[in-house]
Amino acid sequence: MENEPNFFDFAAEVGLTKHLGGLGATEELIELCHIGEGKYVLDVGCGAGVTPSFIAKRYGCRVVGVDISEGMIERSEERAKREGVADRVEFRVADAQELPFEDDLFDAVITESVTAFPEDKQRAVNEYVRVTKPGGYVGLSESTWLKVPPPPELVAWASQDLSANVKPLTSGDWVGLLERAGLREIVVRTYEIDTRKEAKGILQRYGCRGMLGVLCRTLSLYARSPAYRRFVKEVGEDGVTPENLDEYFGYGIYLGRK
Ligand SMILES: C[S@@+](CC[C@H](N)C(=O)[O-])C[C@H]1O[C@@H](n2cnc3c(N)ncnc32)[C@H](O)[C@@H]1O
Repeated sequence: MENEPNFFDFAAEVGLTKHLGGLGATEELIELCHIGEGKYVLDVGCGAGVTPSFIAKRYGCRVVGVDISEGMIERSEERAKREGVADRVEFRVADAQELPFEDDLFDAVITESVTAFPEDKQRAVNEYVRVTKPGGYVGLSESTWLKVPPPPELVAWASQDLSANVKPLTSGDWVGLLERAGLREIVVRTYEIDTRKEAKGILQRYGCRGMLGVLCRTLSLYARSPAYRRFVKEVGEDGVTPENLDEYFGYGIYLGRK
């Protein structure tokens, strides 16, 4: 019998990951972290690898992407080859809480919808700072409780969200993590979710052809795997977005300088 897949297994199989704010949030993070030609960049929790390939292609940087999931790293490598940037982008399986890099290596370390997942978020942020060069930037784009306290049903929804066990924080909590890791010149920008913009953002990141590929892989997975059929059914039953979500839940860009 197959192991029961979780949300990230599914995302890695079909080759689609996302973060709130889409490409716009990525561009904001890039600008605020002074990412440009000649910079060496680490994307922690790179998922299907859209951001590393985008940065390498658009800005001519060398980029390393890490993710805890082997499947995500395979998707990322395929994407980099497809996009013709495999010579500038490399990928490794690694946990945000224990990065396999020496101190003071990267000009910028970014994460998009990742740091909400590790058990020890402070340890993860400390790792981002450790591998950043003095004067370099650490930038996070992360889900955020915009209004507190969130109702218990929303906390439960987030912690069971498609079995991904996301644990959003408030903007104050995120800033505390950056400050305790020793970052200065902290910048905070928080945003509400705009559902239409989110849908457009996914299309912008993957394109029509990319979305068609995701659809084909989803259908093929559904047809051949009973475990994924059970997963899709469960998500359909439990994954209904709570009505009052927008009032409480959004995302924030948080960054600081080492
Ligand atoms: C919501 S996805 C976002 C992926 C990507 N950043 C994007 O914007 O498309 C979260 C990613 O974080 C990865 N992840 C979760 N926990 C992690 C950890 N402790 N270390 C590294 N990656 C992790 C997951 O495997 C997944 O690919």
